[in-house]
Amino acid sequence: MNIVFHSGAFDLQEWRRAAQTISPEFRLLAPEDVAIEEIDVLLIWRPALTDWTQASNLKLVIGLGAGIDGLARQLRLPAGTPVERMRDAGMRQAMSEYATYAVLHFQRNFDQFRQAQQEKNWLTHSSYRSNQDTRIGVLGQGSLGGAVAQYLHSLGYPTSGWSRSRKTLSGVNAYAGEDALNEFLGQCDILINMLPHNAATEGFLNMDRLSRLPQGAAVVCLSRGAVTDESALLEHLDSGHLRGAMMDVFQQEPLPAAHPLWSHPKVWVTPHQSAPTQIEPALREVMDILRERELA
Ligand code: GLV
Repeated sequence: MNIVFHSGAFDLQEWRRAAQTISPEFRLLAPEDVAIEEIDVLLIWRPALTDWTQASNLKLVIGLGAGIDGLARQLRLPAGTPVERMRDAGMRQAMSEYATYAVLHFQRNFDQFRQAQQEKNWLTHSSYRSNQDTRIGVLGQGSLGGAVAQYLHSLGYPTSGWSRSRKTLSGVNAYAGEDALNEFLGQCDILINMLPHNAATEGFLNMDRLSRLPQGAAVVCLSRGAVTDESALLEHLDSGHLRGAMMDVFQQEPLPAAHPLWSHPKVWVTPHQSAPTQIEPALREVMDILRERELA
């Protein structure tokens, strides 16, 4: 079984060493180590090489991240090649931690404290809502969105999840479909966007949908930048309708230096770091996928 690893972002040697610690049989090849027609499985992320149409023996492609929208646009594969992605690879925990930080940031008034610090203002009269009074909404209830919702519920936050088709997760108040969207948005003190990017979600968080959030709500963007209309978000921040935004993903990445989000006083920017792929858990998941497909 020839497993080729290719990434313009991840280091083959590091992944190779980790694979060897999992199993001596788990060998990762570089594309130049094997003739393209002899590749069985391709592990790929942020590829420099995108044309794999000559890989006539290719049985499976595994994207080493949670979202494979970028890969789907870039890769050229033999017709019918299945493409899998990472469903956890340590990302459920990492994403949940980031979301918790973002929730606490707004709940415990760290946004006001930063402003106060800039003004050297000893701000002692800031009250805050308890977990039980801070309503969280998670848009997208897939593998990562569902994990984030359940984690926040476990911390005592009343948590709702919206998805196109109904997902039942214990403790999470489920909203499903377009008909339930406005009601869902209307009860989110903090909205966490976990929707994947596809034709149906491009620009999903637009002027109208953001206006459905309660006055003073905060928005946390963790999945893909293309899901949020950044101009609409900025308008709602400037009008005072929204309290703030914590953003890890952007319509254009890296975020261009001149972009107003960088310096907006109500925006916190992190550079797509909410849940970097963890090498060992990712490789264990790759092994599971290979076993499921009887390729290992
Ligand atoms: C990163 O953005 C990923 O999809 O894993």
